[in-house]
Amino acid sequence: MSSTSAQIGVTGLAVMGRNLARNFARNGYTVALHNRTSAKTRALVEEFGDEGDFIATESAEEFVAALERPRRLVVMVKAGEATDAVIKEFAPLMEPGDMIIDGGNAHFADTRRRERELREQDIHFVGTGVSGGEEGALNGPSIMPGGSPESYASLGPMLEKISAKAEDGAPCVTHVGADGAGHFVKMVHNGIEYADMQLIAEAYQLLREVAGYSPAQIADIFRTWNTGRLDSYLIEITAEVLKHVDAATGKPFVDVVQDQAEQKGTGRWTVQIALDLGVPVSGIAEAVFARSLSGHSELRAASQGLPGPTAQQLSEAEAGAFADQVEQALYASKIVSYTQGFHEIAAGSEEYGWDIDLGAVAAIWRGGCIIRAAFLDRIRAAYDTRADLPSLLSDKTFAQEIGAAQDDWRAVLVAATRQGVPTPGFSAALAYYDALRADRLPAALTQGQRDYFGAHTYRRTDREGSFHTLWGGDR
Ligand code: NAP
Ligand code: ATR
Repeated sequence: MSSTSAQIGVTGLAVMGRNLARNFARNGYTVALHNRTSAKTRALVEEFGDEGDFIATESAEEFVAALERPRRLVVMVKAGEATDAVIKEFAPLMEPGDMIIDGGNAHFADTRRRERELREQDIHFVGTGVSGGEEGALNGPSIMPGGSPESYASLGPMLEKISAKAEDGAPCVTHVGADGAGHFVKMVHNGIEYADMQLIAEAYQLLREVAGYSPAQIADIFRTWNTGRLDSYLIEITAEVLKHVDAATGKPFVDVVQDQAEQKGTGRWTVQIALDLGVPVSGIAEAVFARSLSGHSELRAASQGLPGPTAQQLSEAEAGAFADQVEQALYASKIVSYTQGFHEIAAGSEEYGWDIDLGAVAAIWRGGCIIRAAFLDRIRAAYDTRADLPSLLSDKTFAQEIGAAQDDWRAVLVAATRQGVPTPGFSAALAYYDALRADRLPAALTQGQRDYFGAHTYRRTDREGSFHTLWGGDR
């Protein structure tokens, strides 16, 4: 059937697209539906047609014609070539002022290119980060739209309606900035997610191998942590995973899963772009490397015989005290990962002229997305107090908290090192903290070496200018 009354259209009706379409319909919007394979469109209407007002269409022409003007067309297909193919199909059918909203996990550089190309046709291309998986898409995701302010004026109210709401009721969506800003912020969100997951995994390993707790006991510890400052979706689901028992073997679920973590790429992008921007995201990088190291089964097998320290068992009282120290180390390391992630967003914003409001980004991550956490409200408050905060570590509250945690943080790393438990995330975070607060860094020596072998010159602490030393007789 064809109509001209849909306020929004969704093409790409796999798990994400179909749930997003249902979310729009449940919120009272008439939604035009399209999918490359029409059977999926029909299946959606058959299964969920009574949830709201859908217009099922079978061709690109019919789909575009079903949208009221200016058209709002959401693309929810596999990121990459599929997105370009869909744009190529739909753009010629659209008119000036129309909007194409890409909700897939696109690389922000692709989004910038697509935005530029479509702008020539006066079509608004709105690269939009959508976080929260299929459950979020249906019940309220965290939404990170980029693109023009005009497109946000038209789309914003609809996105606010379908988005997750934070505890104070605020919708988890904001206009992040022009062109690729939304996808950039979504990318860093995923990098932070990798770091959060790695830190939690290290806390688990320490509680298991140093303190000697069982997965079920660790689940209880995590549940307790979830009532405090670590209150977050990831801590909550970690407790669920740890208490889960494998039905086939009766063993803890975590003991029957292969210990090789996989990844789809956004964490890696966060690190690649950070390298390009010169932003030290060492904690996020360690999280990406930890996943890749875990997957090197041959390398790991070949290293099985390498000697390690003799394990020492803690007494029950010592184990309890150690668990409290791990909580401090986890919290301090988490502050550092977010510090690094927000630094990358600030650097991207500066590089691409996006003028991103960092407090608003923290605010829209409070609900709907994987890294949602009580902690984000405090980051929002830090940036609300001072929008040009050079680093989260320079916020008074975070600085005090990390200062109070540091003795335990160091004690945990001493124990980890003594027992041979790898803690790349905790260790990188502490090294970052110590490097930033250091009065002098050995970078002075690095500069001396560079000048020695390559005449790269150096700057002095006591005089302006660039200097080169004639090293040895022949230099
Ligand atoms: P997906 O498996 O990434 O993509 C499947 C959809 O893309 C199907 O509708 C498929 O159509 C369509 N498609 C693939 N190639 C196409 C082409 N050349 N031309 C036209 N359509 C094409 O589905 P998804 O998991 O729902 O994800 C959709 C997007 O959201 C992706 O970019 C993904 O990265 C992003 N995302 C996913 C999640 C998640 O948790 N899954 C979370 C946030 C964002 P057919 O039915 O015809 O094959
Ligand atoms: P979200 O915005 O909800 O965080 P996401 O960016 O797609 O959604 O990624 C969330 C998690 O789901 C990530 O851990 C991601 O995998 P990687 O860790 O490998 O990056 C995973 N994920 C994303 N898309 C997926 C897909 N199509 N199938 C399976 N897992 C997926």
